[in-house]
Amino acid sequence: MKRVAVLTSGGDAPGMNACIRAVVRGAAYHGIEVIGIRRGYSGLILGDGIQLTSSTVSNIIQRGGTILKSARSPEFRTVEGRQKAYDYLTNRAVDGLIVIGGNGTFKGALQFVDEFSFPVIGVPGTIDNDLFGTDYTIGYDTAVNTAVEAIDKIRDTADSHERIFLIEVMGRDSGYIAIQSGIAGGAERVLLPETGVSAAELIERLRQDRNGSQSSAILVLAEGEGRGTATVVAEQIKKQSGTELDLRVTTLGHIQRGGVPSACDRILASRLGLGAVEGLLKGKQKVMVGLVNNELVYSGLQETVSRSKPISEELLRLVTILNGSAFADSRG
Ligand code: F6P
Repeated sequence: MKRVAVLTSGGDAPGMNACIRAVVRGAAYHGIEVIGIRRGYSGLILGDGIQLTSSTVSNIIQRGGTILKSARSPEFRTVEGRQKAYDYLTNRAVDGLIVIGGNGTFKGALQFVDEFSFPVIGVPGTIDNDLFGTDYTIGYDTAVNTAVEAIDKIRDTADSHERIFLIEVMGRDSGYIAIQSGIAGGAERVLLPETGVSAAELIERLRQDRNGSQSSAILVLAEGEGRGTATVVAEQIKKQSGTELDLRVTTLGHIQRGGVPSACDRILASRLGLGAVEGLLKGKQKVMVGLVNNELVYSGLQETVSRSKPISEELLRLVTILNGSAFADSRG
């Protein structure tokens, strides 16, 4: 193996740069050249590759975003697009491709490998932490920390004004950011796609809290909970409860995707980046490199894209007990 290519695709995640750096330096250690593809699969189709060396990846481990840029490429969903990508890789004598991204990125990779038998290894890079085959994805830890910082700030004003805040956190189809930021931020309620609670039940609980000692509350809502945005959920609650609940909405949005990556994310990204290079060297392909029980593990891409990663019962039980309610285990 003489040359590999690396790209970042889909939603960016803090730690992607640390991963690119580890790929480049890991490859250099084994005497392999690296081409960095700009703008994900779109750049692969257009042949937008740049040579990356150990010195070009200096000073990026601490930077959020991705120096290679990211994109979601509709053209890569076509056979013609994938053929152009393959032509580029073979013309540049690339022996293997490392794709850093999430579920959509891996679905594209899978089709590509099936059509062209080209060696591809995936690295899980998404703040959602929703990928089977790894306990954590690159960017998740930083996103949770960002959300917790925001929750702490909102709690101050919620407490002063005796208000209820519904805070929406990201996670297209998963509640990982919600459950961990909810636990760490001491949220009174965590509303998840995996479980749930009806508006009526929620109102009843909030009323009980009001009648007790608690005058403010933080509700953390996962983006993918299933009922719609925080604004929609808040409208439902307001409609059914009348004017008695002073409910405000905050959507954290893309703030969760940016920022300086945490130490955990930098270390995870570095381990997975080197793991991807060394996986290719060992002849692995059509796999994702992940970390399970703190060990590097290679799982089939097919399994990764088709299996879900449920939130553990232990965490669900924890949030239920700490909330002091049965909210995390009943959907009305
Ligand atoms: O997959 C990461 C993620 O941030 C999701 O949590 C969110 O639903 C989505 O990407 C937003 O995507 P975009 O930046 O394209 O709006």
